[in-house]
Amino acid sequence: MKHLVALSLLAADFSNLRADIEMINNSDADWFHLDIMDGVFVPNISFGVPVVECVNKYTQKPLDVHLMMVNPDSFIDTFHQLGASVLNVHYEACTHLHRTIQKIKSLGMKAGVTLNPHTPVCLLEEIIGDLDLVMLMSVNPGFGGQKFIENTIGKVSRLKELILRKNAQTLIEVDGGVNLETGRRLLDAGVDVLVAGNFVFKSENPVEMIKKLKML
Ligand code: DX5
Ligand code: ZN
Repeated sequence: MKHLVALSLLAADFSNLRADIEMINNSDADWFHLDIMDGVFVPNISFGVPVVECVNKYTQKPLDVHLMMVNPDSFIDTFHQLGASVLNVHYEACTHLHRTIQKIKSLGMKAGVTLNPHTPVCLLEEIIGDLDLVMLMSVNPGFGGQKFIENTIGKVSRLKELILRKNAQTLIEVDGGVNLETGRRLLDAGVDVLVAGNFVFKSENPVEMIKKLKML
């Protein structure tokens, strides 16, 4: 499968959000990546229901929702109603991860589990077969524009090995500090979905940058 590119809206210009949504609509980006932060699980608050509603209203591209919140279970129905195609919950926030994953899948969404940089891949040993996607954080979640954590490359290889060993169909997504250089190395290690925020939005020609990420 050719890799996918998910654009993180966190780096968009919120005073002119419609323009950035249209830019992504007219680009080679595959998914909208929406970062939901509660100020408790992560030391930042991003945006919530009204913004996701607007994005869903103005795009046909799949919404890849990244829940950085405690107790994500209480919002699964909400994000389903808001049109999420992929729902990512943090391993560190889920006491009953198996139940959470089954609930997400029962609503027809793809279920993703996200690991913080310090959380080892081996903790997914017993659940990997149930997961549509695993997202590895390559920065500490909470902010865009941070430096890529190098250990992620080896972690991708370890996750790929686990997926192959368990004969699972799970996609590997990486979030944080992705650019053309880190993106190339991540793809070589086995990544299926690259999330990009600042690298695209802070560039002079975002559409061109998205194209370059797709052509890696
Ligand atoms: C960080 C978010 C990321 C972030 C990525 O908590 O989960 O999705 O927006 O942004 P960049 O690509 O700027 O690191
Ligand atoms: Zn994210």
